[in-house]
Amino acid sequence: MTRARSDFPIAVFVSGGGTNLQAILDRIRDGRLDPVRVAVVIASNEHCQAIGRAERSGIPTRIIRRKDHPDQASYDQALLEALRPYAVSLVVLAGFLSLLGPDFIAAYPDGIINIHPSLIPSFCGPGYYGIRPHEAALEYGVKLTGATVHLVDGAYHHGPIILQQAVPVLPDDTPQSLQQRVMRDAEQVLLPRAVALFAAGRVRRSGRIIQIEKETQDDETSIDQRIGQDRPD
Ligand code: GRF
Repeated sequence: MTRARSDFPIAVFVSGGGTNLQAILDRIRDGRLDPVRVAVVIASNEHCQAIGRAERSGIPTRIIRRKDHPDQASYDQALLEALRPYAVSLVVLAGFLSLLGPDFIAAYPDGIINIHPSLIPSFCGPGYYGIRPHEAALEYGVKLTGATVHLVDGAYHHGPIILQQAVPVLPDDTPQSLQQRVMRDAEQVLLPRAVALFAAGRVRRSGRIIQIEKETQDDETSIDQRIGQDRPD
């Protein structure tokens, strides 16, 4: 599915706070995501804080709003045209709330990933965004929740699972406290790690099943050591 590269340009799609984008930028800045480079950030609205985060890191941004396009096909075309100059190797949805259509998805086969704040297939699908997955986890009474990075296949939160990280639910959790723990202990570790695995060419797919290939002897530093275990700033 992927081969190790010496330059690995990615696009990050955002709609909100941009903490997942920031986790990637921080890992690039501290040298732990080599050879990954964020080539462009695409935002679905002009109000999201993620744009400021990209600008402060000197990354080009584009705002492409679904409501400016009459249908999904023309929205997909606008996104594809915005990406064309950057020739990205991976599209990373980091809290991106607009749906991608079949034309866009077909242009990046097995090349679009998304982060979702639950252990899929729990608390996912249409309507499960923002605080809702955490409210639903507390209402159901699960003792573990977490985050999932998956391939994007056109149905909400349905594509093959790449990585998952469990997080405990504590007795006095509110949706907000649980959301913070999931973001810090799961999302912000998993997403840079998934990007690193793609850049290292270690992601293999067989139907719905994703296998992460073992590191080879000549890998300079283990991805586990670099970004797998410790928390972002
Ligand atoms: C995160 O919980 C992410 O998993 C979900 O939306 C939220 C976005 O957070 N898809 P941020 O914009 O990265 O801060």
